[in-house]
Amino acid sequence: MMGPKKRKNEEKVKITKESIQRAKGIFTYLKPYRTTYFIGWIFLVLSTSAGFAFPYLMGQLLGGESTEPMSMQDSISNINLTNINTVAFILFMLFIGQAVFSYFRVVLFTNATENALRDMKNDAFHKLVYMPMDFFNSNKVGELTNRISNDITQIQETLRTTVAEFFRQVVIVVGGIILLFYFSWKLALIMLSTVPVMAIIAVVFGKFIKKLSKQAQDHAAVSNSVLEEALMGISNVKSFTNEVFMFNKFQHSTQEIRNLNVKSGLWRGAFISFIIFCLFGAIVFIIWQGLLMTQGANPELAKGDFFSFVMYTIMMGASVGTLPDMYANIQKAIGATEHLMIIINEKSEKDSHFGKEKPAISGVVSFENVAFKYPQRPDATVLKDVSFAANKNETIAFVGQSGAGKSTLASLLLNYYHLTSGKISFDGVNVEDIDLTHLRSHIAIVPQEVILFAGTIRENILFGNPDASDEQIIEAAKQANAYDFISSFPGGFDTQVGDRGIQLSGGQKQRIAIARAILKNPTILILDEATSALDNESERLVQDALDKLMEGRTSFVIAHRLSTIRNADKIFVLSEGKIVENGNHEELIARRGIYSGLVELQG
Ligand SMILES: Nc1ncnc2c1ncn2[C@@H]1O[C@H](COP(=O)(O)OP(=O)(O)O)[C@@H](O)[C@H]1O
Ligand SMILES: [Mg+2]
Repeated sequence: MMGPKKRKNEEKVKITKESIQRAKGIFTYLKPYRTTYFIGWIFLVLSTSAGFAFPYLMGQLLGGESTEPMSMQDSISNINLTNINTVAFILFMLFIGQAVFSYFRVVLFTNATENALRDMKNDAFHKLVYMPMDFFNSNKVGELTNRISNDITQIQETLRTTVAEFFRQVVIVVGGIILLFYFSWKLALIMLSTVPVMAIIAVVFGKFIKKLSKQAQDHAAVSNSVLEEALMGISNVKSFTNEVFMFNKFQHSTQEIRNLNVKSGLWRGAFISFIIFCLFGAIVFIIWQGLLMTQGANPELAKGDFFSFVMYTIMMGASVGTLPDMYANIQKAIGATEHLMIIINEKSEKDSHFGKEKPAISGVVSFENVAFKYPQRPDATVLKDVSFAANKNETIAFVGQSGAGKSTLASLLLNYYHLTSGKISFDGVNVEDIDLTHLRSHIAIVPQEVILFAGTIRENILFGNPDASDEQIIEAAKQANAYDFISSFPGGFDTQVGDRGIQLSGGQKQRIAIARAILKNPTILILDEATSALDNESERLVQDALDKLMEGRTSFVIAHRLSTIRNADKIFVLSEGKIVENGNHEELIARRGIYSGLVELQG
């Protein structure tokens, strides 16, 4: 399960013109902090250049042939690189410089990166909360949050360190090669024609061995599934007396695993011999050739230069080793940026905000021949030709089997989706022309499954109206029959709820949701099976609170228990997305149709 998911998150992309084009949105985010980032780059260049002096000076220090030690004073005033004291002194100065350059590089890069990332995260979240409901239906929320946080980490790592390191290592490799030729073109040629070749062979070899062990792993998975199937379905195996058949199947796969592993063992053995003999052999060979050049009265290569040469080679080797990983990291970061930019550039509900009306919404609602399909399931028409009208302060009830389309109807009232055909209007204005925020500010919904946010009870109630006063909160809690249980907690309204706080019962959560709705004081109220999950006692308390809440509002009640909608002004029976009966309770009972049948069933 984890496997494919992980692979997806760490997707590598080929670095192409197009991917860079798409990923360059990141620069928009760095732009406000470009001065900081740029100064960081200057320090990076300084510290990289300073880095080049180390191997040289170290070489001179090791191979220095100073015979007459000078005083520190003299050695500094006559800069003489054959003198140990001078070299040591310069080295110390360089270390200090390096320390300072590196400090500022890290601090400045981190600063610019963190600022840019903060803006990027904020933009992504801002975009997400304004995304239309469709988006959340087609993207699993868990996957989405996972992907975003992975993407962010990847970008953070890359901007803060990898880009700088990559640049530094490339410079070291290129500069190193030039310097090697400067010290001794002959030795440089010998080195470049042996070590890199060996290293490339080693890498290819290593990949091949990895592939072999991957194959063995895959086979192990197959044999595991044979085992699992056989034991899970053991009664099948036995009743068909298929033990031998299953055993043969298993035996075959264990043999296959053995063969693959033995094969990879052979190659691993060869690999180790190769490394020991060829790679180390090549290194010894170069050192031997280099030392030969330093021999004699008039050596081709000074001893100090030879040491420097070796130092540069080691430094380059270390740099080359890190390049593939860094390149892969940069690739991943480009992929991650592309992902994020896709979200950030997505069209949100905010983008269709402009030029919309803000009519008075008094609670007059009409559905005219509404048909609706979910965009993800274009083959299933969820609502067909639904028409009804609600007047101000009326209570409209919907009943019907689960899957009939009742909750979908509630979503359409909130304009979560575009209709397939037909028209919904509020106070005569087409919902498509109404500003979404304006519309939703007049509607409150108490759902079946209440989700409280991590935080205090007060914060959760305030969600209905962030500007409410303490008195209003208390009043709302009282009306919602929630005041008593809230006061019974030691923390009162400041009690923490959610994962890290106390657990509330279904009925208590429901009443907090009602208090929230009361605080919002909506013109239109939607109750979607708000009491169906409750026991009798809390249902009575919740129903009582709901009855108070519904007073003076247009209410749409989706009822699970029909006793609760007896007094509704209009009752609509939905079946497979169509309104099949309508009228008030008495009319529908008299009609002896589906509704009266359901009422009889529920007693
Ligand atoms: N987000 C969705 N995407 C696709 N189909 C959905 C979605 N939500 C509900 N449906 C489908 O729409 C139909 C009506 O569902 P719903 O409105 O939840 O019914 P009810 O609330 O009456 O039980 C069902 O067939 C359901 O499978
Ligand atoms: Mg429902």
